[in-house]
Amino acid sequence: MSNHTNPAVAALIERSNRLGSDPKNTNYAGGNTSAKGTETDPVTGQEVELVWVKGSGGDLGTLKESGLAVLRLDRMRSLVDVYPGVEREDEMVAAFDYCLHGKGGAAPSIDTAMHGLVDAAHVDHLHPDSGIAIATAADGEKLTETIFGDKVVWVPWRRPGFQLGLDIAAIKEKNPQAIGCILGGHGITAWGETSEEAEQNSLWIIDTAAAYIAEHSRPEPFGPALEGYAPLPEDERRARAAALAPTIRGIASADRPMVGHYTDSEVVLDFLAHAEHPRLAELGTSCPDHFLRTKVKPLVLDLPPTAPVEEQVARLHELAEAYREDYQAYYDRHATPDSPAIRGKDPLIVLVPGVGMFSFGKDKQTARVAGEFYVNAINVMRGAEGLSTYAPIDESEKFRIEYWALEEAKLQRMPKPKPLATRIALVTGAAGGIGKATAKRLAAEGACVVIADLSLEKAQAAAAEIGGPDVAVGVAADVSDAQAVRAMVDAAVLAFGGLDLVVNNAGLSLSKSLLETTEADWDRQHNVMAKGSFLVSQATAKVMIDQQLGGDIIYISSKNSVFAGPNNIAYSATKADQAHQVRLLAAELGEHGIKVNGINPDGVVQGSGIFAGGWGAQRAAVYGVDEKDLGKFYAQRTILKREVLPEHIANAVFVLCGPDLTHTTGLHVPVDAGVAAAFLR
Ligand SMILES: NC(=O)c1ccc[n+]([C@@H]2O[C@H](COP(=O)([O-])OP(=O)(O)OC[C@H]3O[C@@H](n4cnc5c(N)ncnc54)[C@H](O)[C@@H]3O)[C@@H](O)[C@H]2O)c1
Ligand SMILES: [Zn+2]
Repeated sequence: MSNHTNPAVAALIERSNRLGSDPKNTNYAGGNTSAKGTETDPVTGQEVELVWVKGSGGDLGTLKESGLAVLRLDRMRSLVDVYPGVEREDEMVAAFDYCLHGKGGAAPSIDTAMHGLVDAAHVDHLHPDSGIAIATAADGEKLTETIFGDKVVWVPWRRPGFQLGLDIAAIKEKNPQAIGCILGGHGITAWGETSEEAEQNSLWIIDTAAAYIAEHSRPEPFGPALEGYAPLPEDERRARAAALAPTIRGIASADRPMVGHYTDSEVVLDFLAHAEHPRLAELGTSCPDHFLRTKVKPLVLDLPPTAPVEEQVARLHELAEAYREDYQAYYDRHATPDSPAIRGKDPLIVLVPGVGMFSFGKDKQTARVAGEFYVNAINVMRGAEGLSTYAPIDESEKFRIEYWALEEAKLQRMPKPKPLATRIALVTGAAGGIGKATAKRLAAEGACVVIADLSLEKAQAAAAEIGGPDVAVGVAADVSDAQAVRAMVDAAVLAFGGLDLVVNNAGLSLSKSLLETTEADWDRQHNVMAKGSFLVSQATAKVMIDQQLGGDIIYISSKNSVFAGPNNIAYSATKADQAHQVRLLAAELGEHGIKVNGINPDGVVQGSGIFAGGWGAQRAAVYGVDEKDLGKFYAQRTILKREVLPEHIANAVFVLCGPDLTHTTGLHVPVDAGVAAAFLR
């Protein structure tokens, strides 16, 4: 194979990236594109006709050449002769592997047949909201004719696969004037002899449909405004969202823990503020991409945003029970003996009028995309209802897609999740030192992390160093201020849906004798460590109790909580206070499945802001060594003669909250390289 990029492929990638980066054209990771062209077969030296088509998974907006499957067109088209009929069309996906050229590139998707069989050099299959609105209108066939004349042809609903490819190929052949089609219940396909032509045809269908909807839609597609369901003002809305989030995440996680995403986008609030939203939400989504991401339908809270929080929480629990029964009944109605097992009965989308939408997934990205898909669904319903009546595909077809054997196989191939996947961590004082090392480790083990520290800038910089917003976010909080702690917990809960794992790490240290310690010194250290961790534990335990998913609270106490070192009255006393909080809270929170443990570090000089900020100099003076040698000095007075680094504390945090120490609470783990005077007994 030559290393040059075939010009047909270069054009395909550019077109795909342009189409995929505008959300009006297709949903995230939805749709696929292809190009046909020739290359020299390295085996025969002869020209060979190939089709390059976006492979399974992946997003058009960021598609690269490596994301394309490469098939030999002659072999692909020969499949028509062995095609055993629609009942066994799924077998054709395995047959694509026998059509691959060279190493074949990415895995061919189910839509490969459509691209290979349609006789055009360039083909686009997309999921635009405007096109799906026509595709899901009760009279979509008639609308297609009215809007597009004979340039675009209606294809009745059919599950994606080989037969749909044959159908579209036949339509193209019979309608030489056509530039594409509307796929009932699903999306659009367009073609062209050049890449530009295919792109223009796709955009023409999308824009013509959108313009027609804009011009001909009824004024209130979602019905009249619902009394009392107008969005709350922004501050109240977010406060209410934060108050409800733990309950909602608990509901979405009853079968398996989930990460959440919250949005109060105008599209969502507008939908929920109008009379038809309960009926439409019940009808569910339609485009085949949606079912695994959003389930057939959302859970909708049927109370106005002005109802008291307690009433909303109680109602959400009732609705969750009903949702689970309803989902089980749906599964039972349609499952056959060879259907994959039920995948959990909890909602993935929860709608709260006046407040917004909570969406869920196995990680933050999946949760966010589920929400984006439901926004697509709302746009589709608005368009369809504006012109006609929204009529998604039949429930039995939805089930066939949700529990499709090919989809199940994809799920089974997914790599095993990391040990802390779906867990949401909050680490205080995590802009540097032990806190940052801990946040980094928890993220590396699969957790989403919230990094809280005094400076927003530094907290955000630490978060950015660890990962993008789907992994880590930074928030500003002074843990000694109750209001700031509440705001921090609200921000955490709105970022990822809830909280499972809290590390009380924020701290500072002043090395002073009893006679030197001022009242202000005493108060400051006690406010940040004893009081600060009390406030954080209180606010976060409330979230964990509401979630009913258990959790972990970990205190970074100190060797000095048990060891009577020199010139250390305020610091060591407040560390002893923290250490006793561990035991008290372990006893109190155990009934909620919340474990509370502590770590006693010592002598962590490298990376520690405490040491750099004066404490190191003071300690060095107390011990009579050079400040730069303090780490080594501490190492020499340990039993193991090893220097303790921030990463060693982070390791202990992971062990305490990881998958192995499930039956341990009220424990302190020394991470001090061995200090006999601080042995616990
Ligand atoms: N370094 C050690 O040897 C050692 C030993 C035992 C215990 N500890 C404890 O480990 C924790 C982390 O210490 P480190 O060594 O990484 O120091 P560090 O100074 O690098 O980290 C402490 C962080 O806490 C933040 N912070 C301070 N006051 C805060 C407040 N009011 N609200 C929010 N954040 C605040 C600071 O900005 C800083 O980023 C502290 O609780 C410390 O007492 C450290
Ligand atoms: Zn599709």
